[in-house]
Amino acid sequence: MDYQRMPIEIESPEQIGYAKIACNLTESSFRDARFADLNLDLRALVLSYGDHRGHPFLRAALAADYAVAANDVLLTVGAASALFIVATSLLERGERMLVLRPNYATNIETPRTLGAEIDFIDLKFDDGFRIDARRIAAMIRPDTKLVSITTPHNPTGVMLGESELRQLIEITRIRGCFLLVDETYRDMAYQSPPPLAASIAAHVISVASLSKTYGLPGLRLGWLVCRDSERMHTLLAAKEQIFICGSALDEEVAWQYFRRRENFLPAIRAAIVRHRDLTLDWLAREARLQVVQPAGGVVCFPRIRADARVDIETFYRVLNDKYATFVGPGHWFEQERALMRIGFGWPTTAELTQGLANISRALDEATR
Ligand SMILES: Cc1ncc(COP(=O)(O)O)c(C=O)c1O
Repeated sequence: MDYQRMPIEIESPEQIGYAKIACNLTESSFRDARFADLNLDLRALVLSYGDHRGHPFLRAALAADYAVAANDVLLTVGAASALFIVATSLLERGERMLVLRPNYATNIETPRTLGAEIDFIDLKFDDGFRIDARRIAAMIRPDTKLVSITTPHNPTGVMLGESELRQLIEITRIRGCFLLVDETYRDMAYQSPPPLAASIAAHVISVASLSKTYGLPGLRLGWLVCRDSERMHTLLAAKEQIFICGSALDEEVAWQYFRRRENFLPAIRAAIVRHRDLTLDWLAREARLQVVQPAGGVVCFPRIRADARVDIETFYRVLNDKYATFVGPGHWFEQERALMRIGFGWPTTAELTQGLANISRALDEATR
């Protein structure tokens, strides 16, 4: 397999070095938790191989939340490995899939590496990045095997409503395709989200993780949900071939966190709303940027107006080199660089305020 490193990974803040960044507005997660703040006692933990499907208590708790059976849940090493397992289990070279673009890069790159035939559903800024079930339906071809969507969406924060989600589930069922729904940002929806897509029908696979909402990406703890037991058998086989089972340490920390998550969630949600409003207020005042309002998550994907006379390359150079401020540039998502993902959930309020001011300064200095 000819794996290629993706720009979003090569240029990620952890690869640049956090110490070199003053204002990190690249992240799509809430601020990283400190282990000490979780207040856990792990001394009784036995470091054995674990249940191959994943920590039974954690799977049971997730299953109860989603109204599915515990064996419909497979824990994975982050949502990233769940997506890899799904893509490699469902797609072979030459098989056709339909996927949203822009997207979390892996949702496109793994099928590309596999040699799948990829049709893109290009979301457009001028359509409010709307994910349109009827448009997707019209793009399904007789040999489309997999339809892949992300909602709440990365990098735009838009979301598919329940009736559209159900419509898409029904269409893909009738057309005989699998539907992958990457729901990694589901717990950060601003209004209560639709039921987990995989709980609605057996041809749907949902993927999520603890990384984003809870600020726990270093745990590498995700999951996929699938009600089709035969399909789940294959997905489990893929997991066993890669990992055998998950990390006993990660799974125990995840379980102890998850069962007490209500202790953390209200403060996380309040901080997200505060930072979202701060960012959208700034955007409303920053005439050189246009934005589609997010419906969930901690990112938005504004665009530098074409008539603002901003030299895009100068903008990024000044922003990065002079102000040590970083955002997610459009090319991370196979988009024009006039688009940028701004992550408002990870920085402190002071870093976010400073980072937004630095974007305005860099726009000033890059104006022709
Ligand atoms: C939509 C989406 N899915 C999956 C992932 C992978 O996250 P993780 O492996 O940390 O759960 C990301 C990370 O940015 C993402 O944005």
